[in-house]
Amino acid sequence: MADARMETMQGDELASKLKSSVVFKGDKSIRNASLKLDPKDMAWWRDTKFGMFIHWGLYAIPARGEWVMNNEKIPAEEYAKLADQFVPKHFDADRWARIAKNAGMKYMVLTARHHDGFALWDSPSSYNDFCSSKTAAKQDFVAEYTAACRKAGLGVGLYYSPMDWRFPGYFQPKEFADNAALMKKQGYGQTEELMSKYGKIDILWYDGGWLAHKGTDADASWFWEPLKLNKMVRKYQPKAVINPRSGWEGDFQCDEGGHEITGPIIDTPWEKCLNLNKSSWGYNKKQNPMTPNEIIRMLINVAGRGGNVLLNVGPGPDGVIPPSHVKILEEVGRWLEENGKGIYGTRPGPFQPVDGRYCSMFKDDKVYLHLLEWDGQKELILPKFDRKIASTSLISGGKLAFKQIKDGVALVVPTVGKNRLPVLIELVLEKKL
Ligand code: GLC
Repeated sequence: MADARMETMQGDELASKLKSSVVFKGDKSIRNASLKLDPKDMAWWRDTKFGMFIHWGLYAIPARGEWVMNNEKIPAEEYAKLADQFVPKHFDADRWARIAKNAGMKYMVLTARHHDGFALWDSPSSYNDFCSSKTAAKQDFVAEYTAACRKAGLGVGLYYSPMDWRFPGYFQPKEFADNAALMKKQGYGQTEELMSKYGKIDILWYDGGWLAHKGTDADASWFWEPLKLNKMVRKYQPKAVINPRSGWEGDFQCDEGGHEITGPIIDTPWEKCLNLNKSSWGYNKKQNPMTPNEIIRMLINVAGRGGNVLLNVGPGPDGVIPPSHVKILEEVGRWLEENGKGIYGTRPGPFQPVDGRYCSMFKDDKVYLHLLEWDGQKELILPKFDRKIASTSLISGGKLAFKQIKDGVALVVPTVGKNRLPVLIELVLEKKL
């Protein structure tokens, strides 16, 4: 298939093929095929396309992002005092799930514990009982969250960072080997708790399998032993989709951040994670939110190259996702209600994406062409295609004129400006792809 696509490439299409902006974080990780899920067990995840990432913890109180403890060199004992104030009055996991569903998202991933060490569940392995059930909140948020996801029919995902800034051994693992060993013990214990106490977990999303913020996760694998860790995970959760950031390659690849996605279709499963509020992952007083149009274009550009989008929100200290962010998500959800058939359950192709112009996806006998920008004065020529097209139409209504010519498919399409929402065109084929 990949070679057949190459042969038909022309002009703009070829240019897109040459430069991919995707950067995979776990690219250098240790391989181990026996831990990987079978493609058929990944299919549900690849079909979903869109998930909600939630960064939430004590750092929501100072509201300067989830790295505040490290960035501002706040001593661990002082940072720990935030737990006395962490009593989120309006925490409502069902509401989070509703917001995700209304946005057209199909799964969620919650930071069960970030690098600051504070666990959002009742964690016996937590060093110094630094967890929400044993501090002022007296609540097991992970229990409520996992139940809410399941009730709403959303995939249940947990983020977990084995590294913990409270341990000097994290920064100097050789000098403080005993201390580092304690951190590792906590990491294994907590991973086991998350995998064994909360029913079926659909996604395990590691972060910070590195050491002293240096090198890659793979460089720190001598310490974390990710194969051992993930063998244990597979014992409890044989079908969980695991990301590549423990030092083991995982079931999919990860691209992080808000940069635009360009280049050709990527054949391995992958996910782009990024922030709705560009200021930080954790709640931040500084607001710089993405627009619905930017989110929709990101989703098309990622799904059109075979990936999923995990879009992050940072609820405030009271547990509430900022209402202005909810509004943005609702708009994305409204677009997906009409255009989702060209996203969910599709696979990228048969045409290679053309950067800034279009992406195509297909499902059964339909090809969905997402038009990102086009001057409607000109005919759009798609590359040569060996299937007969029966009809073409705009999803928003109305037939479109098309001709299958020697060099490809000529379509008369509307004008689409960058600042407007993209337009979806459906091509019905005479036979399934
Ligand atoms: C980085 C950051 C972290 C964030 C994560 C999300 O690894 O350390 O703050 O949680 O990316 O992908």
